[in-house]
Amino acid sequence: MTEKVSITIDGKTTELPVLKASEGRSVVDVRGLIAEGIFTFDPGFLSTASCDSKVTYIDGDAGILLYRGYPIEQLANQSNHLEVCYLLLNDELPSQSQYDSFESSIKSQQTVDPNFQNIFNGFTQGAHPMSMVSAAVAGLASLFHEETDITNADDRMQTAHRLIAKIPTLAAMAYKHGRGEAFVEPNDDLTYAENFLNMCFGTAGEDPNVSPTIAKAMDRIFLLHADHEQNASTSTVRMAGSTDCNPYAAISAGICALWGPAHGGANEAVLLMLNEIGDESRVEEYVNKAKDKNDSFKLMGFGHRVYKNFDPRATVMQESCHAVLVEQGVEDDALLKVAQRLEKIAREDDYFIERKLYPNIDFYSGITLKAVGIPTELFTVIFTLGRMPGWITHWNEMLSAPYKIARPRQLYLGESSRDYVSISDR
Ligand code: CMC
Repeated sequence: MTEKVSITIDGKTTELPVLKASEGRSVVDVRGLIAEGIFTFDPGFLSTASCDSKVTYIDGDAGILLYRGYPIEQLANQSNHLEVCYLLLNDELPSQSQYDSFESSIKSQQTVDPNFQNIFNGFTQGAHPMSMVSAAVAGLASLFHEETDITNADDRMQTAHRLIAKIPTLAAMAYKHGRGEAFVEPNDDLTYAENFLNMCFGTAGEDPNVSPTIAKAMDRIFLLHADHEQNASTSTVRMAGSTDCNPYAAISAGICALWGPAHGGANEAVLLMLNEIGDESRVEEYVNKAKDKNDSFKLMGFGHRVYKNFDPRATVMQESCHAVLVEQGVEDDALLKVAQRLEKIAREDDYFIERKLYPNIDFYSGITLKAVGIPTELFTVIFTLGRMPGWITHWNEMLSAPYKIARPRQLYLGESSRDYVSISDR
């Protein structure tokens, strides 16, 4: 029998069904309230499930993250990013032949139209790469608009392959443009992560020379960021996609949402903060600033909307981070020492313990990327590459079943109707 809850407003009682989850919390189905003329109020969607989904499960209290049921720790240690892309898109892990054919589909679509260089040329050299990447991804709509039928499952999967294949190329073009350097063409002989690194840090016309340690760390960063259920950028992709807009436009909207320092921009913000602190001796001063109610400063890379125990991605990333620091021989780097001191103080301080503010994945990915010499402005772009399969999987999931245009309501607190007064009488 379906469990129900009743609510009584103005003496009228309405029964609402409770929908059972396969894992985690059940939700109260409030859809029937509109017929009663009632809306719910939930700014920031803290209590609202905006959709049903089979892609990713998070238990924030227990620190669990599953992609299609597989624990993130197992995937990080035994899989690779492309296999995880396949898993997210197709629901199941691939057989060897399915993996090979997926990989060759991705590799065969890595190049972009040569005219695309002009998109980047329109930006000043100092432009942030996230601005260029969001524009370039929206620009893909111009190339593939006619041939993308969003009601056709094969077209949607084709779009997914195309975006996963082309995002590293567009990201590297943005980076090279910012540096005033010649673009390095994609190389099919390299892995997904190696190819991205070569396009960014290689030299046009020269043989690739990518460090296996850095490529491994990069692949792990992509994989750990691949999906995170209905976060701000994924919800943005779903919301934009619910208007039936071109998928490249919906993904571009998600990239813009990711850019903010409260979301994907946090890894870059971590490094900017470490630079600002500058020295171990100033860590306590900044911890105090973060605790001060009259100061808007927050410790970047700490806290999470969902994880209130620990972020399982941060645990995996912390291992990689420490391994990379040792391998690169940079444990004595001044900024990394600031990071380690910050981590220690925050983990022991009551303010952070009481509020369950732990270092999140961006804290460790920011430090790892810094340790392997990745320029700070590329950090959020790297998150973008990682999150691409998640965004496109959620978009595809939404379009594969009946859906409605996303159109939240509001609690209006403004003026009641009043008459216009001409400017001379005000
Ligand atoms: N430093 C200091 N205090 C903090 C921090 C922080 N990083 N994060 C939260 N708090 C305090 C906050 O001021 C509040 O204090 P009080 O209860 O006294 O008012 C309390 O902790 C609860 O915070 P909240 O704002 O209700 O938490 P939230 O769930 O709305 O926000 C967050 C989560 C991630 C936006 C926030 O913790 C934050 O801004 N962190 C820093 C930015 C960051 O690292 N973001 C990356 C998140 S992981 C990547 C991703 O998945 O996108």
